[in-house]
Amino acid sequence: MTFAAADIVQDFEIRPFDAALGAEVVGLDLNQPLSSADFQRIHRAHLDHHVVVFRDQRITPAQQVAFSRRFGPLQIHVLHQFQLANHPEILIVSNVVENGKPIGLGDAGHFWHSDLSYKEKPSLGSLLHAIELPAQGGDTLFANMHTAWETLPPALQRKVEGLRAEHTYLARYAELQQRSPWRPNLTPEQIAQVKPVVHPVVRTHPETGRKALFVSEHFTTRIIGLPDDESRTLLDELFAHSVKPEHVYRHQWREHDLVFWDNRSLLHLAGGTPDDLRRVMYRTTIEGDTPF
Ligand code: SIN
Repeated sequence: MTFAAADIVQDFEIRPFDAALGAEVVGLDLNQPLSSADFQRIHRAHLDHHVVVFRDQRITPAQQVAFSRRFGPLQIHVLHQFQLANHPEILIVSNVVENGKPIGLGDAGHFWHSDLSYKEKPSLGSLLHAIELPAQGGDTLFANMHTAWETLPPALQRKVEGLRAEHTYLARYAELQQRSPWRPNLTPEQIAQVKPVVHPVVRTHPETGRKALFVSEHFTTRIIGLPDDESRTLLDELFAHSVKPEHVYRHQWREHDLVFWDNRSLLHLAGGTPDDLRRVMYRTTIEGDTPF
């Protein structure tokens, strides 16, 4: 009997972290064709653990794009200046400046956020591949928005369930622009791509049915229908609760890690890299559903 390459099941382990979320996948090689049985295991782990860390993945950008596409269509970031050459689906996240020009977006993740929550269809998940890591720093933090919702005091749960909030890419753009070289002036076409959108404050995960808080300090500007001061106070309370240490996993990167997180379940934050150390990462972003 002969097997097609994509039918071969690989011998790999999924090891949950002793943390608020996350699991590592050890022994899987994404250079090999992925069988549907292996894909199903990974898909399940992603839903269960929200962050899946594939160790030691020596894959090309094209392989990262192809693997990401198995989960859905890919989204192209509005900052096309930082696309990888010949791979518009890859956003370069990097603090490296070459010949006076940043090669990537150096302050991506400076504030807690869920990727592309400012779109009508925010991201399902993102994959970040470590290309060059600093000797120190460069961690990424993830906060579990399901446990954030579940541990919200019942009176606050009643207050926010059913509310809707505005998200906009431009919310803190000018602030970021003032202190970093990575934020170009946007063209009218780019601004037209990131019009404010409104999403529920509490969303339901479309695949697991679990509820999650869905507001962030980066992109959420106001709660619809509340006076400005009340909206600000409520958002600040939700932001502070969301990222309490008990909801957070801090990822310390290893060479060739590929990290796949669920933007429907999490917020994330870049922990920061010392200015004199180089960090280069490639990100793909998968389109998700309209939140409900
Ligand atoms: C991001 O927010 O997508 C980047 C996170 C990181 O660079 O650690």
